[in-house]
Parts: sequence; structure tokens; C-alpha cells
Amino acid sequence: MARNQKDHFYKKAKAEGYRARSAYKLQQVNQKFRLIKKGNSVLDLGAAPGGWLQVAKELSKGRVVGVDLVEIDPIDDVTTIRADITVPETLNLIKDALGEADADVVICDAAPNLSGNWTLDHARSIDLARSALAVAGEVLRPGGSFLVKVFQGESFKEYLSEVKSRFRTARAHSPAASRKASAEMYIVGQGFLKAPVAVGEEIELEIVGKGRSGDGVAKVKGFKIFVRGAGQGETLQVRITSVRPGHATGEPTA
Ligand SMILES: C[S@@+](CC[C@H](N)C(=O)[O-])C[C@H]1O[C@@H](n2cnc3c(N)ncnc32)[C@H](O)[C@@H]1O
Repeated sequence: MARNQKDHFYKKAKAEGYRARSAYKLQQVNQKFRLIKKGNSVLDLGAAPGGWLQVAKELSKGRVVGVDLVEIDPIDDVTTIRADITVPETLNLIKDALGEADADVVICDAAPNLSGNWTLDHARSIDLARSALAVAGEVLRPGGSFLVKVFQGESFKEYLSEVKSRFRTARAHSPAASRKASAEMYIVGQGFLKAPVAVGEEIELEIVGKGRSGDGVAKVKGFKIFVRGAGQGETLQVRITSVRPGHATGEPTA
């Protein structure tokens, strides 16, 4: 970001009571994509010092949970957890804080400490973003939304396609408040496809029913998979070809 633009958002944040100028990035992304709506529950990963938490709370007025390696000064009616988002045990802390319901939105502005070695910093940023996607995969409701910051570099496209395989739409976006920072990019995933299978996966399935269009129907953990040309009672190897919020489709491999 250009220096005077940085100063502009810094001063504005100070004047308006936000803990970080990144608050404006979330406001801008939200204006464009309408990720956080009234009543939503929001999980913020890499949340300190809490600018995004403040904005998330204003927008949703619902349950808001923030996680960071460092302590976050308290914010009214926001739950904060001091934990590492890359370790599996953190998931249970998050689930406890969210309560019974899944999150509507998961946002992640986590960033590694910069080493000055761009290849390394990019790789660490991708690791954090992968952890955020894994957490989102566990706690998001079907149809939910995801926002994640990634430093650009050679693995950016690969990561974007990982997000694409889990959401109806996924795109890269650079909000005005972070423009000219060539390095940082946000990825917005909308319409979470909560499914126990992924596109491209091969899996053995037993056809237990018939769909209206004549396709065979199999179930994995209660999730319906329509298999083209398969008959009831068959057990066959299937390649998953599409995943939607409520069902998936597949083709027999042989
Ligand atoms: C740019 S700051 C987030 C700013 C925040 N969005 C705001 O508006 O106040 C990035 C944060 O990511 C956190 N972070 C980095 N690695 C982390 C990890 N493994 N687990 C949790 N937080 C992490 C850092 O401690 C830092 O506070």
C-alpha cells in the first residue's frame, strides 16, 4: 500500500475507534460480497488485535469468536481464544466456543511473521490459509462463506483451486484498503459445499436407491451421491464429478 494511503487508513482507524486499519478491508470486502449478515455467527482466525472482530460484531450482532496466538484485549460479547490455528487441538476449543450451531462465516487474516525471504513467507502464508480452510471445513454450515488472506506466490493458484473445490464460487479479490500492496490478496468462497466427498475422488459405493432421473443413489454419512447409469444393489468404483450443498454426482470408473 502507498505510504500516504496507509497513513490515511491508520488515522481513520484511530479516529473511529478501530484497533487496526485492516478493519476497513473487511468492511470493503463485505460491501462487495455481503458475507456477514445480521444474526450470523462468525469465526475469525488470526484475529489480534481485533479490528476485524469489531467490524464482524457490528455487522452481525450475533455470535463472534476470535482466535490468535497472542492475547486479544476483550471486546464486548465476543469470545476470544489464545491458540494456534495450525494445531488440531484448537478445533475443539473453537467448537466449544461456537456452541451447537455451525458458523455462518469463517474469516482469516492470519499472517506469518515476515522473514524477508519471500518464498518462505509465501509458503507460511499458504500453510496458514490451508489450516483456515481445514477449520472452515469442520465448522461452516452448508452454504456458508469463507474469507482468507493469502500472500501471492507460486502456490496461490493451487490454493485457490482447493477453495474452489469446497465452495460454489471462489474468487480472488483485492480490497481498495489493501491495494498497491502487491503481495496480499483475499480469497472469497461462497456457498460452502458440505460433503464427505470431493470432486475427483474415487470411492467404492453401494447403490441403495434410484433417483427421479433414473440414476443410482448411494449414501456416504447420509449425504446423497447420484451415480450415472448405476442400478440398485450394485457395488462399484465411482469418480466424484460434482459436489453441491445437498448432494454430489459421480460416474462409474469402469
Ligand atoms: C494482520 S494480523 C490480523 C489483524 C486482524 N484482522 C485485525 O483486524 O485486528 C495477523 C494475525 O495472525 C496471527 N497469527 C499468525 N499465525 C497464527 C497461528 N498459527 N494461529 C493463530 N494466529 C496466528 C498473528 O498473531 C497476528 O495477530
